[in-house]
Amino acid sequence: MPVKLSKKYLQNFIREDEYASISHQIAAAHTLLENRSGAGNDFLGWLDLPVNYDKEEFARIQAAAKRIRESCDVLVVIGIGGSYLGARAAIEFLNSPFYNQLRKPGTPEILFCGNNISGDYLNDIIAMCGDRDICVNVISKSGTTTEPAVAFRYFRDYLIKKYGADGAKQRIFATTDKARGTLKELSDREGYETFVIPDDVGGRYSVLTAVGLLPIAVAGCDIKRLMQGAADARAAYSVPDMTKNDAYLYAAIRNILYNKGYSMELMVCYEPRFREMNEWIKQLYGESEGKDNKGLFPASVIFSTDLHSLGQYVQDGRRQMFETVVTIDKPVSEFIIPEEKENFDGLNFLAGKPMSYVNRKAFEGTLLAHTEEGHVPNVIVSIDKADEYELGYLIYFFEKTTAVSGYVLGINPFDQPGVESYKRNMFALLGKPGYEDLKKELEARL
Ligand code: PA5
Repeated sequence: MPVKLSKKYLQNFIREDEYASISHQIAAAHTLLENRSGAGNDFLGWLDLPVNYDKEEFARIQAAAKRIRESCDVLVVIGIGGSYLGARAAIEFLNSPFYNQLRKPGTPEILFCGNNISGDYLNDIIAMCGDRDICVNVISKSGTTTEPAVAFRYFRDYLIKKYGADGAKQRIFATTDKARGTLKELSDREGYETFVIPDDVGGRYSVLTAVGLLPIAVAGCDIKRLMQGAADARAAYSVPDMTKNDAYLYAAIRNILYNKGYSMELMVCYEPRFREMNEWIKQLYGESEGKDNKGLFPASVIFSTDLHSLGQYVQDGRRQMFETVVTIDKPVSEFIIPEEKENFDGLNFLAGKPMSYVNRKAFEGTLLAHTEEGHVPNVIVSIDKADEYELGYLIYFFEKTTAVSGYVLGINPFDQPGVESYKRNMFALLGKPGYEDLKKELEARL
């Protein structure tokens, strides 16, 4: 199995009989998913996506990616939440956290915007584009989300001014609903090439649709291998028995620990290329499970970097978290620690050793310190290497875990009603027509 799960370091925290006790809840969650009879069952398109995707659109994605690579220096990806996190995570994981500096020949820089409301940030993106040739991939299922809509307003106008209406048309790619919404209407009217976010796939489960696939393909990654990894994971994680299904075992572990009072899950990786994957996982977990006053709070760190900041808290602070450590067993490249004649830093005992070996020992040392002295339960999720196949597998592993965890927790893992509250208040405070009464009420409370 490309994704391996170890519960070895949980033995002081979870008894064997506790796994047996929760197994019937896992089996019930499996049945809800398989029969499509649970809460949010109209958002289960992601389940079969790796084998049941639109092949004609997939070919168009590959062709569009090629055209984008050939016609621009910079691809600006506009989207927020589920409409950008997966693409960014995959691109950095598969290439480097320095993708833009170290990208493969023939691939454009990729800049992400429309994911905040900071004018400073948008101005920085515009400055980085300079007068280079750009293409835009605007991604929004609703087409009305404020953050991407504001950024798209600017870039659409800029492209029309720079390339003319016909030229702009060749450079704007819209990923949106198949039939509805302002972005779809505009795209049809203007003749932009469009890609579909399926009705039955929510934003945070959409990385394996055009939402993620187009930017990932532009970055030169093999999206067929990505889908193959996810397809193989789909087969592996459809087995009902949690002793033979690591996605279900992980869901069981998360719920057992949650019920024992662990309120936070800290995602840990020792490779900086995983930083944006952590962000993707945090959205997947947080937006899926944080409702009805329930749910693990997902947090993340990159070690050893954060051992020098949050490491103190993990070791000695309030006991409320468990760690899920994702290990990548083979590095993409190796760095051998050099010999130093004077040995001024006393590190010659490491000379000639690969950095990955030192990183592994840092992981092992931390694992023992956190579990045995710090009493922090550790779940280990291992993959062999950072490639498209293993990433596709891993993405499906986390998605399946989330769905089953959510059902065991007793919530709907596919909606996000809480996200609307801030939007309603923001629109009212900004004076959006139709919100006049709420504006008065909120201003009086501020
Ligand atoms: O996961 C989700 O559903 C959200 O994060 C959305 O993707 C995000 O709010 C963006 O929405 P939209 O794609 O409609 O612009």
